[in-house]
Amino acid sequence: MTGRPVRIAPSILSADFARLGDEVRAIDAGGCDWVHVDVMDGHFVPNISIGPMIVEAIRPVTTKPLDTHLMIAPADAYIEAFAKAGSDIITIHAEAGPHLHRSLQAVRAQGKKAGAVINPGTPVSALENVIDIVDLILVMSVNPGFGGQSFIPDALNKLRQAKALIGDRPIDLEVDGGVTAENAGEIAKAGANVLVAGSSVYKGNDPATYAGRIDAIRTAAQAAQ
Ligand code: DX5
Ligand code: ZN
Repeated sequence: MTGRPVRIAPSILSADFARLGDEVRAIDAGGCDWVHVDVMDGHFVPNISIGPMIVEAIRPVTTKPLDTHLMIAPADAYIEAFAKAGSDIITIHAEAGPHLHRSLQAVRAQGKKAGAVINPGTPVSALENVIDIVDLILVMSVNPGFGGQSFIPDALNKLRQAKALIGDRPIDLEVDGGVTAENAGEIAKAGANVLVAGSSVYKGNDPATYAGRIDAIRTAAQAAQ
């Protein structure tokens, strides 16, 4: 079975923030497809990470798409700021507010790709009525807030359901949390084509290791597609 192109999106949440520009350059040189930017507000998730100023700061460092995962509620007030800072894809949680449809429309109104994301406790059916206004669906395979957690196996069922919901539409299916070279095959087989990888790329923060790790995840995913 072939699918949409495999994309590896390392999460800079596990980068060495004191050397963030170099850490982004290193995954770019290491062959990543996208740069995954985890935005946390200490309210929707129990952690605080980065804001639009950091997106703006890393924008000149890479030409690769900035895949901005908003773990914030409410999200709408910040969409324009992340768009202007240089995000290419802006992904909104279904659980972040009562108006997911409106939020996705707001992302597209900024000329950006719109993603919709569901937590492990949220069914795929929550996305049925926005499927025609998204460019990407993200299935969380951990409860968001922290890097380095273990992959929740039920995410594989949800990926299969999301793949069926997508059908022939030109929509990327992304997975985020606990992705490794060891489970990338079953993840790709379940239908995901965009694999976020935080700790499995950045652990140890040695740039010399990044290319090999990205390649291992990609090779496993492509072999299973
Ligand atoms: C979780 C974040 C993830 C996280 C992934 O809240 O959305 O992007 O950084 O990290 P790993 O790959 O270590 O689970
Ligand atoms: Zn993320």
